[in-house]
Amino acid sequence: MKNNQLTDSGQLRHFLTIEGLKKPLLTEIMDRAEQFSGITHRQVKKVPILRGKTIVNLFFENSTRTRSTFELAAKRLSADVMNFNISTSATSKGESLLDTLHNLESMHTDMFVVRHNQSGAAEFIAQHVAPHVSVINAGDGCHAHPTQAMLDMFTIRRHKQEFHHLRVAIVGDILHSRVARSQIQALATLGVGEIRVIGPKTLLPADCQTLGVHVYHDMEAGLEGVDVIIMLRLQLERMQGALLPSAREYFHCFGLTEDKLKLAKPDAIVMHPGPINRGVEIASSVADGPQSVILEQVTHGIAIRMAVMSMALGAQSEQHEISA
Ligand code: CP
Repeated sequence: MKNNQLTDSGQLRHFLTIEGLKKPLLTEIMDRAEQFSGITHRQVKKVPILRGKTIVNLFFENSTRTRSTFELAAKRLSADVMNFNISTSATSKGESLLDTLHNLESMHTDMFVVRHNQSGAAEFIAQHVAPHVSVINAGDGCHAHPTQAMLDMFTIRRHKQEFHHLRVAIVGDILHSRVARSQIQALATLGVGEIRVIGPKTLLPADCQTLGVHVYHDMEAGLEGVDVIIMLRLQLERMQGALLPSAREYFHCFGLTEDKLKLAKPDAIVMHPGPINRGVEIASSVADGPQSVILEQVTHGIAIRMAVMSMALGAQSEQHEISA
């Protein structure tokens, strides 16, 4: 079946979801990010790969990490970047989303990086843009956050090298998490040995078993012998009704503490896409502890986003350009 994110020759055009993408493409994104990650440590953190291209950050929902790292990634590729401010735009005067897009397109822009609180928003935009414009999903509702999943896979590969022998546990509010959905798809595609999800029944999707994961409602049992722990925050902004007794009770049952971390393998890494809520899903001593790679994930977001943007705009990251 044709994937509408890919060109007829199988190249990335849009990046909307991990679903339907094959292992070689995910590996290519990580390999290219590996090449780009060295640029961050140079005195001049720039390569001319996207010189002359214009990228628009369209964030209809708040963000710290994703928006900043997309902007930095575009600038490091020498693209021109426009951060479109929704709150001061004509959207607030009643202009429709499509009219806004067509106006931005008429400025000869090449890429929209979109975050929206509605699932499917990035795909909708991708269906309506001009043929030369690429759309990158920077998180849509509960649906997908594909670049977050890829930077997480990159971080895991950096620490563990191979995927097939790993046991990975994702803990917390899976039900409302676009990150978890994309991570599960990426982990499965990369051939991870065992994917576990851990959380209260009210925060796990009803069709969890169909995702090919092992479900745990007991955190101690779920963490036993895992190589990677991915903690998620409670996404209160997407919850309807009271799904939890209290934050205190939640931390007692599903918060990651130093004692619970001891149940995982001694060299297990602790991840979190952010923003973290200390004392709700993770203890400060763990978030700031030696097994935490949380800030490393943020750093890797730049290289992964450079990789995705350069691939979607068809730029060939020839070695001489990267080393320029
Ligand atoms: N992980 C993530 O999406 O964080 P932001 O909401 O700060 O972008």
